Amino acid sequence: MQPMYEPSHSVPNPDSIAATWWDTYGDDYLAEHPSLGVVKFQWSPEGWTEEDLQLLPRRPGRILEIGAGAAQCSRWLKSQGHDVTATDISPGMIATAHHLNEKTGYDFPLHVAGVENLPFEAATFDTVFTSFGALSFVPDLGPAFEEIYRVLKPGGSWIYSVTHPFSWVFPDSPYRDDLTVVRPYGKKEAYVESSSGKTEYAEFPHTVADHMNGLSQSGFLVAEILEPGWPAGNSETWGAWGPDRGAMLPGTLIVSAQRPAS
Ligand SMILES: C[S@@+](CC[C@H](N)C(=O)[O-])C[C@H]1O[C@@H](n2cnc3c(N)ncnc32)[C@H](O)[C@@H]1O
Repeated sequence: MQPMYEPSHSVPNPDSIAATWWDTYGDDYLAEHPSLGVVKFQWSPEGWTEEDLQLLPRRPGRILEIGAGAAQCSRWLKSQGHDVTATDISPGMIATAHHLNEKTGYDFPLHVAGVENLPFEAATFDTVFTSFGALSFVPDLGPAFEEIYRVLKPGGSWIYSVTHPFSWVFPDSPYRDDLTVVRPYGKKEAYVESSSGKTEYAEFPHTVADHMNGLSQSGFLVAEILEPGWPAGNSETWGAWGPDRGAMLPGTLIVSAQRPAS
């Protein structure tokens, strides 16, 4: 596959590209990253877990995970006694989540759904979250944030992790010596991988301003932003995430926002 950047607006049907790619390569992704676990809530490739960071509200109420993949995070929340529902745009990933639930004896609702079209009534959930799901695969964050706001109850929390927006300007390398800017920050270009002229994978870099303005224009109040450092004792690399680069620059952005209570 040939990796390159294309103007974001020229990528056709991003939902269909994401669903097909994750249907096809989801199992390979899980096999390549065994640290994701099966009953585990990991916020980022650095290895930070919900147990470490405790970002969800103390009483999270009814929880929705979007872009859940194989639903490892939801399974961990269920193991802690929470009421959780998981969604993902890829029927293949949801099938894997069903399979892992059967294998491990967990049971919670799983739905095939894109983040911009969630099959729930307004004000259904107290907490919505994703760990690296969905947001990188939509060209514009606005419709996703508006849909999440819709399904959240007033006063509810929306917490998510994404690739740190600064990462996109550097080469995809885990070494500090490669931290030379190669792309302009904020250029509206998608990272695409194509084969025989067909786009098979597309990710859309969003800036910090895209996140903050998208949240406030959708009605959210930002409560906290985290740029977690590299954890002592983790020597594993994952793409551009690794101890050498991680000592110099955060690889992950985590945002905690709220739908105002009234
Ligand atoms: C990097 S995985 C994250 C899943 C899980 N948290 C993990 O770390 O394995 C990204 C997930 O987002 C899903 N996804 C991509 N585009 C989406 C969209 N528009 N709506 C909902 N899910 C989407 C993919 O199908 C994939 O399962």
